[in-house]
Amino acid sequence: MKRRPLIVGNWKMYKSIPETITLVNVIKAGLYKVAGVDVAVCPPFTSLKAASETLEGAKIDLGAQDMCSEVEGAFTGAISPLMLKDVRCRYVILGHSERRKIFGETNGEINRKISTALRFSFVPILCVGETLEERESKRAFEVVKEQFDTCLIGLAASDIERVVIAYEPVWAIGTGRTATPEQAEQMHSYIRRLLKEKYGEVVSERVRILYGGSVKPDNIALLMAKSNVDGALVGGASIKGESFIQIVTNALPEPLLEPVRR
Ligand code: 13P
Repeated sequence: MKRRPLIVGNWKMYKSIPETITLVNVIKAGLYKVAGVDVAVCPPFTSLKAASETLEGAKIDLGAQDMCSEVEGAFTGAISPLMLKDVRCRYVILGHSERRKIFGETNGEINRKISTALRFSFVPILCVGETLEERESKRAFEVVKEQFDTCLIGLAASDIERVVIAYEPVWAIGTGRTATPEQAEQMHSYIRRLLKEKYGEVVSERVRILYGGSVKPDNIALLMAKSNVDGALVGGASIKGESFIQIVTNALPEPLLEPVRR
């Protein structure tokens, strides 16, 4: 079964509100004819409202880069699911390696965030991936399994169907050193096997597994050619309009162009 491709731009801590409006307009114009692929952009919190308004009428979704597991209360600096609903986010990236490493997020906290995200009908994008040291010491699969198991504790198979998993090897993020399509496929097929063992074949075939780490216009096609790579979570190349547009276009073997409506 082939899953619908999904390309997500993680803008990280880049782009002011005026810059967001400009970039979203460029992406909107560049992709208005492209069909057969789901696309989302995840600007910083302060730009979500402007991005949401600018995306009006476009078939591009909005996502957040993190979310609090609590709904409201004394949580200084945190952003609640209700606030993300306000600005019409569909996706929320959870457990990004930068959140884990720099902000000390644990698998347990990520698990609580995923439960909350599902309760509020978001599509959580759960990030997993090993460091260079873990790969070199041949622990990559063990580390990803631990992240997978703990972050998804307590979720039913029907919940899992709505989760997107992003495999982002830490050594490939922002380094220009992309995992080879074979390395990506090896981990993606392993993750799909874990899904199958735990939640059954039907669910495992429905979950989209994205690759993230130095995705560029010139490497996306070979990654997407692998049967378990269903899309990409793009960092640096998603904050340049032209390169993001090219990544989305090159992700499809033959981009379906819808008739232009005027
Ligand atoms: P780069 O595409 O800049 O390597 O970042 C990947 C990433 O962290 C996406 O979440």
